[in-house]
Amino acid sequence: MNRDQASSKIKELTALIHHHDFRYYVLDDPEISDQAYDLLMRELEELEKKYPDLRLSDSPTQRVGGKVSGDFRKSSHRVPMLSLANALSEDEFTAFDERVRRFLDRAPDAAIEYFAELKFDGLSINLTYENGTLTRGATRGDGETGEDVTANIRTIRSIPLKLNTKHPPKIIEIRGEVLLPIEDFHKLNAEQAKKGLKLFANPRNAAAGSLRQLDPAITASRPLTGFFYGMGFFEGIQIKTMSEYEERLEDWGFPVGKNRSICQTAQDVLKFYRKIETQRDHLPFEIDGIVVKLNQLREIDQAGYVSRSPRGMIAFKYPPRQETTTVEDIVVQVGRTGALTPVAQVSPVRLGGAVVRRATLHNQDEIDRKDIRIGDRVLIQRAGDVIPEVVKSIADVRTGKEKKFKIPDHCPVCHTRVEQKEDEAVARCPNRNCRAQLSERIRHFVSLDALNVEGLGEKIVDLLVEHKLVAEYADVFKVTQDQLLKLEGFADKSSQKLVDNIKGARKPELARLLYGLGIRHVGERTAKSLANHFGSLETINEASIEELEQVNEIGPEVAGSVHQWFSDKECRHELKNLMKFVVPQAPARRMGGSGAGKFSGKTFVLTGTLPTLSRSDATRLIEEQGGRVSGSVSKKTDFVVAGAEAGSKLDKATELGVKVIDEKELLELLK
Ligand code: IVH
Repeated sequence: MNRDQASSKIKELTALIHHHDFRYYVLDDPEISDQAYDLLMRELEELEKKYPDLRLSDSPTQRVGGKVSGDFRKSSHRVPMLSLANALSEDEFTAFDERVRRFLDRAPDAAIEYFAELKFDGLSINLTYENGTLTRGATRGDGETGEDVTANIRTIRSIPLKLNTKHPPKIIEIRGEVLLPIEDFHKLNAEQAKKGLKLFANPRNAAAGSLRQLDPAITASRPLTGFFYGMGFFEGIQIKTMSEYEERLEDWGFPVGKNRSICQTAQDVLKFYRKIETQRDHLPFEIDGIVVKLNQLREIDQAGYVSRSPRGMIAFKYPPRQETTTVEDIVVQVGRTGALTPVAQVSPVRLGGAVVRRATLHNQDEIDRKDIRIGDRVLIQRAGDVIPEVVKSIADVRTGKEKKFKIPDHCPVCHTRVEQKEDEAVARCPNRNCRAQLSERIRHFVSLDALNVEGLGEKIVDLLVEHKLVAEYADVFKVTQDQLLKLEGFADKSSQKLVDNIKGARKPELARLLYGLGIRHVGERTAKSLANHFGSLETINEASIEELEQVNEIGPEVAGSVHQWFSDKECRHELKNLMKFVVPQAPARRMGGSGAGKFSGKTFVLTGTLPTLSRSDATRLIEEQGGRVSGSVSKKTDFVVAGAEAGSKLDKATELGVKVIDEKELLELLK
């Protein structure tokens, strides 16, 4: 290869890797395997090594650069990073609305346009792009000056090193929040525990700790991501509304919160606030409220500023999720994999909208490290939908009557001797038929995120197990109305309803079924990856460890665990019985799958501002018809739906000969 050829190959590979980073890290919808990606990366690295001067400024090989020496340098923001006033109740939000109306001279019943979205609980950062290239990433600091963490920011794969547009603004400061997804936070803490290192208190701290590493290689090893929503200084673009701005950010390649809504009244905002609150525990990342902003930038200016906060925006918070309480007792729970977990029974306290009576202590090592005793005052907190945990004891208020605790050496339920591997902090009951394990397995199997059998709550599962009506997954589907009627609390109607609901759960999505099987290390996300990759239970069943490891985000440990489950005699037997009752539904994403609807198998890309439909509405309409909305145009795209000020995606579509339609034509097709 001569120099010219190398130069064009480097350009091609750089662009290709950026494209795949975007598919993987922003859209969560990769097009190639990790191996294929690694090969591209290696090819680029080798070429760059041979021709160092041909390396592009946004080369993906430079995401992990050299170490920073000493502390971080200071970095002043071109425009200060302001803060937000809080509304801590619906009344306070209403007061905000009234205030805004006064400042805008708007009657109480006149229309007003708000933009509402999630308040991400991460670390706020400021990114500077000059002529489309990322030149600086800084923490918020005191709002005027932060720390220069550019080298670390570059390692975050969902953050574009270059804006995806042919006409970038000359300079723009883009603001957002860096965070660590809850699942990754728990994984990170598990690893920390294994290495005997200190655990992070919550995902936010873990994100902060990860971003403020002097060695970018450590930051790179943590699956940080982010959401972007704000602007500081900008020159060379014209934007009128917040919603339009976020669509632009999306076009440029940034991850932007999907839950966002343009609200025409304060009532609409309240509806959004309440709706998100019900979803809060199921989001993959932490939020601490919603942010409500006047949608028109002109109106934000008009409303003005008080003490460093725009009057036209507010952080509308949910109740906090940390509280102090007293440990009344410590009991031991047996989980679905046999893990013995010490749980603190605490004096009831309200936490994030629910009353909490129990909080996990994780394992004996954690009890010892935090020195938690029965009778202690403790700080507890909740992250995501996992049960609350004890963060620390407040040792200065001890009376001397507190008692230390030691986990028993026999299972408290079936009395089998517990086992503990040398390299694990967790003690386990090895008896798969232990009643406690079985109850937990079935509870998990029918839970909201698995088979979602409505009406089959934890108490009823326990009853079914206790009465030996259910001894394995398949038995759930054999439960009859007569059997239920003999149990406490069932009447004609309720028993019929439950039997109907169970019947209704016979066609679970493959990912939900996989998750429901309770395989160790297979959380929802892993289950989805497996389902998308293999498409059927049979192929997963036959997959070798090597094949399992080819799946995105699946490493040797998870692959080993999946393989072991499918090789285990008892598990295979249970699965075989279960398959007489359930028909898993292949993921709709896979072509030729069950995706019914007009747009089945069709891929759409949205660009620019559509005259009436918001981006999320258009996406929903397309998906309802079995179509898929992708963020980038390729030869495989079937339609590009273009609105006003459509950017580079439109050019790309024209270049590739992809069909371009407008909103009217889309609605026509939907009819
Ligand atoms: S807009 C004037 N939108 O919350 C500041 N902020 O409590 C404009 N935050 O400093 C911020 N999610 O770090 C905005 N969707 C969102 C947000 C958000 C989280 C953070 C941000 C801000 C803090 C204010």
